[in-house]
Amino acid sequence: MKESRKVVLIGTGMVGMSMAYSLMNTGGIDELVLIDIDEEKAKGEAMDLNHGIPYSTNKMKIKSGNYQECRDSDIVVICAGANQKEGQTRLELTKINTNIVKDIALKIKSSGFNGIVIVASNPVDILSYVVYKVMGIDKSKVIGTGTLLDTARMGYLLSEYIGVSSDDIEAYILGEHGDSSFISWTNTYVGCKTLLEYVDEKNLDMNDLNEIYDDVRNAAYEIIERKKATYYGIGLSLNKLINSIFNDTNKILCVSAYLDHEYKHKDIYIGVPCVINREGIKEVIQLPLNGVDQGKFDDSYEILRKLKVEVKK
Ligand code: 2OP
Repeated sequence: MKESRKVVLIGTGMVGMSMAYSLMNTGGIDELVLIDIDEEKAKGEAMDLNHGIPYSTNKMKIKSGNYQECRDSDIVVICAGANQKEGQTRLELTKINTNIVKDIALKIKSSGFNGIVIVASNPVDILSYVVYKVMGIDKSKVIGTGTLLDTARMGYLLSEYIGVSSDDIEAYILGEHGDSSFISWTNTYVGCKTLLEYVDEKNLDMNDLNEIYDDVRNAAYEIIERKKATYYGIGLSLNKLINSIFNDTNKILCVSAYLDHEYKHKDIYIGVPCVINREGIKEVIQLPLNGVDQGKFDDSYEILRKLKVEVKK
């Protein structure tokens, strides 16, 4: 990658713009190009962000543009498509968003793009697979946000419950970014201790922890019922992923990655912990799952596999 850090955002809805606004605040990139099917909206968003530049410590270039901008960009982020409505599951968006995202992937490809694609549109695991197949690039270069946000939600709620900083909690949410996701308690850590040891030592109640996980799984439904959409959490998750790539951090993040026999499965995008660096997904981390957790993983895989077959038709 060259020295200047250029990101193209496709889809200037609330998710994409929350990412853009957070990047303006934290910095980490030099140039941001906004693309939207509604060109006037993209222009207006670029104007609005630029008017904040004098008061921002990060002097990045922001403009609206077209798909040619992908050619020399390092990262393209896809946030376009319909979002979940009240009572709807993410999987119900499969048909409409597959068509939208296929078209976008073809346009990115024909620009001559040679970087990393991040997919945030839902159902994110299926759409990451679609982008990977349509673009025909290396699996390490297509990353879905997957369970990155679920993992942040878990970190936040556990931290509140046990009173330890979320920086010191490793609580990965695995599987589909959706109703079949799950937490592997035996692979959850507080500092150097397993959470299960910690629970014993502090006399915590496993029922509380299971309720916390239910809250994580239902978080999007709860928020959408109250304010119609979720965007700040995913905006910051995207920021974390982008900065982990540009800073070549080798940070472990739970994202949607292509499996090639890890977790006993292949040819699927699904949420797993991965080492992220400037190359994209450097490595999928294989956690030692017990029988129950492997069963949950298999169930989640099966849901995504069936949908994958549908979108291939
Ligand atoms: C979320 O989990 C809706 O996928 C989005 O907030």
